[in-house]
Amino acid sequence: MLEKLENLKTEADNAIAASANAEKLREVEVEFLGRKGKLTEILRELKNLPAEEKGKVGKASNELKIEIEAKIAAKAGELENSRFEKLAGEEWIDPTQPGIAARRGTLHPLTQFIREAEKVFTGMGFTIASGPQIEDDFHNFTALNIPADHPARDAQDTLFLADEEGKLLRTQTSSVQIRWMEERKPPFRIVAPGRVFRKDDFDASHSPMFHQLEGLVVDREISLANMKAVMEEAVKQLIAPEAKFRFRTSYFPFVEPGLEMDMSCTICGGKGCSVCKRTGWIEIVGCGLVHPNVLRNVEIDSAKWSGFAFGFGIDRMVMLRHGIKDLRLLFDNDLRFLRQF
Ligand code: DAH
Repeated sequence: MLEKLENLKTEADNAIAASANAEKLREVEVEFLGRKGKLTEILRELKNLPAEEKGKVGKASNELKIEIEAKIAAKAGELENSRFEKLAGEEWIDPTQPGIAARRGTLHPLTQFIREAEKVFTGMGFTIASGPQIEDDFHNFTALNIPADHPARDAQDTLFLADEEGKLLRTQTSSVQIRWMEERKPPFRIVAPGRVFRKDDFDASHSPMFHQLEGLVVDREISLANMKAVMEEAVKQLIAPEAKFRFRTSYFPFVEPGLEMDMSCTICGGKGCSVCKRTGWIEIVGCGLVHPNVLRNVEIDSAKWSGFAFGFGIDRMVMLRHGIKDLRLLFDNDLRFLRQF
């Protein structure tokens, strides 16, 4: 009987050593230690043995059982390790390799400019306002004192919505002035950056969609001096600290007097070049004192309140700031261009 155990031990050792994977090992375990396993059978036969043999064989069988269990556990650990080693060989990573760099985008130069402008103006006590891009005639034209026969109201210049009677794509952010004043009582200072649309060609200096930043201040005893101070400070901070300015009279129906502010050419320093058409000056902002009719249209007493308004052409300013020669570059979404900012 002891000899049989000895053989069984050798047999188990070989079977365990030959197990190539966890499944095979599990079969070996069943073969020797399972309910109908080879060792289990010997243990079951113990009771039939004569008393003096029973003790010896019983002890040896139990020892063998413990030994086989331990060997199976050790083999299982070995198999698990080699499985991981194999995996590590197959799914190999080189931690010293440089990673795939995440490509970081940048804000569009127009967005950068708008954000900076918002910072500059909020720093001067302005609130940021906005209005819809789809407007109606009243907010875009009538309330702004734009007469019925004004060329801007012509279908040649304005994009009207075919399927919505009376609706159009706003041609100017000045409409936000009206929307703001309809809802509130003065005093206020606002800036409203946004998109505007005109029926226009798309070339180096025109686009049917572009950007403006509207400004409006309404308060007591507002004069051109207040306007000049605010606008010069803003343009210095946003484009060129060394810039010089001049104002020329102009005409916009919603301001009186209406003016245009010119800035000394940042490209040639005022000497005259192709950008400033040899004049040394670049026209940048329309502005003026809010027309009493506009205040009246939104039920603000023009005897008590006065104000100034201005409209920046943002695309133009961004071009000046970065020396961009073609407006289309701002809308082409060419990453080679955009990555430079
Ligand atoms: N809305 C004008 C335009 O689109 C720009 C402008 C001029 C705005 C004078 C103003 C202003 O607020 O006072 O050409």
